[in-house]
Amino acid sequence: MSFYRDFNDKTAIATWNSQERKPYETITVTRLSPAVGAEISGVDLGKDVSDAQFAEIRRAIDENLAVIFRDQKLGREQHKRFALRFGGNLHRHELAASKLAEGTTYDPEFLSWRTGPESRFTAGDGWHPDVSCDPEPIFVSLLHVTKTPPLGGDTAFANSYLAYESLSEPFKAFLSGLTAIHDGAEGWSASYGAQPEDGKSFPASEHPVVVTHPRTGRKFLYVNRSFTTHIVQLTRKESDAVLAELFRHVEAQLPFQTRIHWTPGSLLVWDNWATQHHAVWDYYPHERWGDRVSVVVPGQRPTA
Ligand code: SIN
Repeated sequence: MSFYRDFNDKTAIATWNSQERKPYETITVTRLSPAVGAEISGVDLGKDVSDAQFAEIRRAIDENLAVIFRDQKLGREQHKRFALRFGGNLHRHELAASKLAEGTTYDPEFLSWRTGPESRFTAGDGWHPDVSCDPEPIFVSLLHVTKTPPLGGDTAFANSYLAYESLSEPFKAFLSGLTAIHDGAEGWSASYGAQPEDGKSFPASEHPVVVTHPRTGRKFLYVNRSFTTHIVQLTRKESDAVLAELFRHVEAQLPFQTRIHWTPGSLLVWDNWATQHHAVWDYYPHERWGDRVSVVVPGQRPTA
C-alpha cells in the first residue's frame, strides 16, 4: 500500500526549525510562530542603532523573515535613516501619489495610506510581496502603523522558503528553470483601479519561479497572485493550472504562516523576497494608517 506524500510540509518545517539559532546579545527576539515572525525589544529606532545591534537585527530578519518593534516614535527622517541601514536605495512607489495615498503628505520615498470609512480599497489586501513587477524588486520593507482599529487589522505572513521546500522533488525539478511574468497592471489596475501616467505603463518583469536568496543561499518560491500573470515556458492552460496550485499552496498552508498583530507605533520590517503578506481588512469602517519605506539594492535581480 502506498501513501500520498503529504508529509512534505512537516519535514520542511522540522528542517526550518532545526537550524542553529545563536542567542542574541544586544536585542531580545521572541518568535511568534515556528515558520515566520518575531518581536524584537530592547531597541529605540528613533535613536542611533549601534552596528552590533543592527547586525543582530539583520540576523533576526534572516532567521524570522518579519520582525516587529513596538512603541517606536519615528518621524519620516528617522524611518528613512533606519531603512538606509539595510544598504541600497529607497524605493519610489508608482502609487505614492495615487488615490491609495489620499489624505497623506506626498513624499516619493513613502507609500502611505489612511484607510477609513471612505476607503474602497487598502494597501496589500491580498497575498503578495511588494512590487514583484520591478526588475529589481524591493528587498526589505519597513512599515510603521500609527493608527490601529479597535480590533483586527493584522498582517498575515507566509514563508516562501517553506512553500518551496515542502514541494515534492519531481515538482521542484519541473519548476526549476521556469520563469514567470510579474505585471504591475495586474496588481494595481485590477486592485486599485490605478492607471499609469499618460504614455507610460506599469513595470512588468520576468523572474525565475524558484529564486535563490542572495543572503542565505536558500531557494524560495517566487510567484504570487497579485502580480504574477503567467509562466513563460508553458501554454496558457498549463500556466493557469500550475500557478493556481502554487498560489493556493502559499495561501492555504497555515503552518507556514503567522498573523502579526499591530499596536499603534509599531514598525514591522520584512524580507520582501522570501515572504508574501496579506493585510487583513477586517476592520471596516474603522481606521488604520500605514507609512511604508522600502529598500531596493541596485543591480540585485532575482536569480535561480
Ligand atoms: C503592504 O505593505 O502591502 C500593506 C501591509 C499592511 O498594511 O499591513
